[in-house]
Amino acid sequence: MLVDSFGRTIDYMRISVTERCNFRCAYCMPNTPMDIGDESQDVPLDSVLNFIKVAISEGVKKIRITGGEPLLRSKIVEFIANICKIAPEIDIALTTNAFLLAPLAQNLKDAGLKRINISLDSLRRDNIKCISKRDGLDKILLGIQAAHKVGLKIKLNMVPLRGINEYEIVEILEYAIRLDVMVRYIEFMENTYAKSGIVGLKLPEILEHIRKKYPISLFEKEIFGPATLFKIPKQSLKEKLDCILERDYVFGVIAPHNDDFCKTCNRIRLSSEGKLIPCLYHENAIDIKEAMLQGNTQEILERLKLCIQTKPEKNDWNEDSISKRAFYQTGG
Ligand code: 5AD
Ligand code: SF4
Repeated sequence: MLVDSFGRTIDYMRISVTERCNFRCAYCMPNTPMDIGDESQDVPLDSVLNFIKVAISEGVKKIRITGGEPLLRSKIVEFIANICKIAPEIDIALTTNAFLLAPLAQNLKDAGLKRINISLDSLRRDNIKCISKRDGLDKILLGIQAAHKVGLKIKLNMVPLRGINEYEIVEILEYAIRLDVMVRYIEFMENTYAKSGIVGLKLPEILEHIRKKYPISLFEKEIFGPATLFKIPKQSLKEKLDCILERDYVFGVIAPHNDDFCKTCNRIRLSSEGKLIPCLYHENAIDIKEAMLQGNTQEILERLKLCIQTKPEKNDWNEDSISKRAFYQTGG
């Protein structure tokens, strides 16, 4: 079992399999270069699997595949199937922008994928184009529908941005309610790669938008997740949306700017460059690329343990600091 110096059990790995992306989201990347690059620059998935085997043998129970855009990897389905062969009980999920998802959804499900988080920042064509620099709305929606149809458990992610998509907070909520999937609003995390002038909405402002239409109450803080959960009574959904749910609707807000964010942190990250990152908002990183490429299990294990030992108690976040980490390398 991997336990850090503050008694937190680390059993969740987020693994970025490429920094390449077919979108250029305003909160994540500069607009250029627009070319996607090719797969030869990514760490081979067999080498990443060497790391995953060690992590699983050390008690890791949950893995999330991220990017960049993970569906750009040509062998992603095979990779997920291999992870599931090593550990059939593993809780395996993937985060995607859904642009390439529709034709892959069934294969991903058959490979053993259970859950999928999909970025959905807008339901308006122009806004998607403005935020991601890609005319992608139709494909995103087809991807969401395909994932739903094959039975993947979906969560939608929205990053509300001032003056851009903040007016769609309720629309996205209602889209999610109708699909009966959870939406999570994510506070924009300032970083040096985001476009200048981007301002994110904070938790109270996000709730304010929703309160204009629906009553909200605090549900709970996710025990093993970063979101604070809120609920809307089903009665209110029936009256205002003509939507009948069997239970109250629960949505989440991920607010890393809040103080208690790190207490229950159970995760570390493997970046697309092959670095182990104990905390997203901390400069620490341990290079594990060579050990993965060589399949050097002993070295991988030592570096993994070092990463856990150096995991800080709290993130380095403060109002004036801007993260120098590229979210497209760490998967957010
Ligand atoms: N701030 C907040 N969320 C971000 N994501 C990526 N970059 C940022 C950022 N700077 C989240 C988005 C996206 C997911 C891949 O990571 O929600 O859906
Ligand atoms: Fe790509 Fe995701 Fe970054 Fe958007 S947030 S540019 S989809 S990696």
